[in-house]
Order: sequence, then structure tokens, then C-alpha cells
Amino acid sequence: MTSRAPVFTSPFLYDELMSEDRELDVVVFGATGFVGRLVAAYLAGHAPEGVRIGLAGRSEQRLAEVRGRLGAAASAWPLLVADSADRASVAELARAARMVVSTVGPYRSQGLALVEACAAAGTCYADLTGEVLFIRDSIDRCHELAAGTGARIVHCCGFDSIPSDLGVLLLHQAARADDAGDLQDTTLVVTALKGGISGGTLASGMGQWDEMRASAQRRRQVEDPYALSPDRAAEPDLGGERDLDWVHHDSDLRMWTGPFLMAGINTRVVRRSNALQGWAYGRQFRYREVTGFGTSPAAPLLGGAITAGLKALQAGLVFGPSRTLLAPLLPRPGQGPSDKTRRTGFFRIEIHTRTATGARYLATIAAHGDPGYAATSVMLGETALCLALDRDRLPGRAGVLTPATAMGTTLADRLITAGHTLTTQPVTQ
Ligand SMILES: NC(=O)c1ccc[n+]([C@@H]2O[C@H](COP(=O)([O-])OP(=O)(O)OC[C@H]3O[C@@H](n4cnc5c(N)ncnc54)[C@H](OP(=O)(O)O)[C@@H]3O)[C@@H](O)[C@H]2O)c1
Repeated sequence: MTSRAPVFTSPFLYDELMSEDRELDVVVFGATGFVGRLVAAYLAGHAPEGVRIGLAGRSEQRLAEVRGRLGAAASAWPLLVADSADRASVAELARAARMVVSTVGPYRSQGLALVEACAAAGTCYADLTGEVLFIRDSIDRCHELAAGTGARIVHCCGFDSIPSDLGVLLLHQAARADDAGDLQDTTLVVTALKGGISGGTLASGMGQWDEMRASAQRRRQVEDPYALSPDRAAEPDLGGERDLDWVHHDSDLRMWTGPFLMAGINTRVVRRSNALQGWAYGRQFRYREVTGFGTSPAAPLLGGAITAGLKALQAGLVFGPSRTLLAPLLPRPGQGPSDKTRRTGFFRIEIHTRTATGARYLATIAAHGDPGYAATSVMLGETALCLALDRDRLPGRAGVLTPATAMGTTLADRLITAGHTLTTQPVTQ
């Protein structure tokens, strides 16, 4: 008699079969890096007692040093040695835990082997990438595989793109609860932000710029508003949906606005969330992200100066000779914002939407702490716990997902409990 491998159509079924055969609940891969150390520290301070956590990286000695600084809660955490270039070690990592959280970047060069291993092993995975090309490759190579094994593969689980993705999901749910129709024009405005940048983030940005310069096809892929769509041909044609390029007075928002650095990744993630839910937000859902500079007479000058400064820095980092000149002034891999910068940072975001019936809603998302590092380590740490521990409360989906489609309000509830603000309210004129 021949036996056939079972086919799992629901991650719930798969979870029941896989849950108890893993040594660990969560592994932090990249624990020796700047943000990896912060995520490990967050888990040491906030994971419920009894959660089995391991630290992974290239050097056992440096992992032991990291663990030594995490205090008593982490003193018995196992250390796992793995290198992205060694597929066997990465496959072993994927089989060791219910979920792997990766801060090993740049993801485009270091990340795919682990995503493939997790997709094959039915292991959940989360990371902090903001690299569109890496996520596109991950979708193309791993979505079907992960959907078959029950793995939830979730990219962009930090400042990009959790506030955007969960904020729009909450707006959709608020409008649906009021029977107010589909979301239409929806704009995220960054109203306050203070923080720094790490060497790893710069290296990841430069890696993607290099790839875009080398290939016109890859550049077009990054610039496509639907770059992460599960079915590009089925996306609606809503005319120009380019990200804002310069400072402009927005008559709808009644303020001066300019480009937001993260729009290029966040908007693609939010549109993927819409598509993965069968365009539940709406087929006329138009989404953009901007920085708000306010209404004062100085606002256009301030916005122009900040936008010009960021564009000059980006141009300097794109071209080899100026990159070499700037390098000594910038953080290197392993380095990032100081304790004080991380502690005193913050962000506040508003998302304005108008629905098909003309109703208006506002979402507010805010947190204390440097958005890319302090707040991000809370977001990624809670994502890890959510994927490992809350599986019976997650949407019944598997594959290469987004924060909203993989974890939805379960993650939002966790972040609110951790001190982040995520609210929605109707707007009456
Ligand atoms: N979305 C967000 O909000 C957000 C925020 C912060 C960071 N990020 C992203 O997170 C990533 C990490 O940033 P970071 O500042 O922490 O970078 P980092 O300090 O340079 O850390 C990178 C980590 O990757 C490890 N690594 C590199 N190559 C490896 C390999 N072949 N095998 C195994 N491990 C390897 C390094 O290990 P060694 O110690 O052995 O070198 C280190 O632990 C970047 O891609 C960044 O863009 C995103």
C-alpha cells in the first residue's frame, strides 16, 4: 500500500500537527547586529515566562556576549550557529522553532535562503526588510510553497510597514462596522517624527539602489505602485499613483506636504494587503503617504529644505565616488542611534480616508522611542510573540503575507498593550 503526503489547506490544521515538535518557540537570527540586539533585549524583558527563545548568528562567542548582557531571563537561551551562505545551517534553524525572526540584512543578499527554508518547513517567519525587490523575489519563489506548508512569511514588521498596514486595516474595519462603504482616497500623513539610522539600514538602501541602477527592469519593478501584487493584471487602473516627489499644498488636507521616505515600501505593502483580502478595502482604494509640514507661512520653505536635503543625501549615496566620501560620516553595519536618540525619539502618524458613501475617518498611530529602532524592536518583538503564541487568533491564511493579513487586529491589540497608540474615529465636518 502506498501512503500519500497529506495536503493542508488551512494553517489551523497545520498548526495543530506542527506545534509540539519544535525545540523552540522563537529564534532571533541576526542577534549580534544592531537591531537584533534590541529585539533580543525586548524579548528578554517582555516574553511571558516559559516561552522558549533562542539566539542565532554566525559566531557562538559573539552570541554568548549578547546573551550575557540580556540578564537572568535569557541566561539559559540556546545559541544556534548559522550562516545565510550555508543552506544546511539555515534549514536546521528553520526546523528548530515555531517562528524565526530575522534581522540579518541586507535581506536581498542575505535573506532568501532563510525564507525558502521556513516556507519549506512550515515555520513562521518575520523580518524588517524595506527592500521591494527582495520581497518580490520572496513572493515569486515562496508564496505557493508557504501556502502549502502553512507557514506565515511576514516581511516589513517594523516602522515600515506596520503603522501603515495596521492603520489602514483598522480604518477598513471601522468603515465596515458603520456600513459606510469601501475606502477610497486614503492618505497617511507623518505629523511628527524624530529618530536616527543604522549602518545596516543604509547598507540595505544602497544595495537596492545599486540593483536599480544596474537593471532598468528592476527599477521599473520598484517604481510600480503594485510591485508586490499577488496578481498584477487584476489590479485596478486608477490612473497615476506615483509617490509624491516634491513639496506641494494639499487642498484636501489643508496643509503643506512633501515626500515620505518610506512611502515607496509602505504603499506597496498596503496595496498587497488589499489584494490578498480580495480587494476588501475597495477597488477604488487610492493610497498615498506624505510628510506633513503644517500650515504656517514657513511650511513650504521648511518642507523644501528638508526634501532637498534628503534628496541630496540619497544622490550622494547612490553614486560610488560621493558614497566613498560620505562613508566615514555614516554609521557602519553593527552601529546605530545612541541610547539617548532611541529613548527621546517618537513618531505620530495620521491616516485620513474618505469612503464611497462620503464618510470620513481618521486613524492615529503613535509611539515613543526612535521609530526605526526603539519602536521597531517593540513591533518586531510583538510580531514574533504573536506568530508563535497567538496562532488560534490569527486570520486563516498562509503564504508570503503582510502584517495586516497575517496578524491583523491580534497584533494591533498586542501593540496597544505594549504602549503604542492605534485608534480610529469618524470625522464629522
Ligand atoms: N523596517 C524597519 O523599520 C527597520 C529598522 C531597522 C533596521 N531595519 C533593517 O534591518 C536590517 C538589519 O539592520 P541592522 O542595523 O541591525 O544591521 P547590522 O547591525 O549590520 O546587523 C546585521 C546582522 O546580520 C548578520 N549577518 C550578516 N551577514 C550574515 C550572514 N551571511 N549570515 C548570518 N548573519 C549575517 C550580522 O552578523 P555579524 O554580527 O556576524 O556580522 C548582524 O547580526 C537591515 O536590513 C535594515 O534595513 C529595518
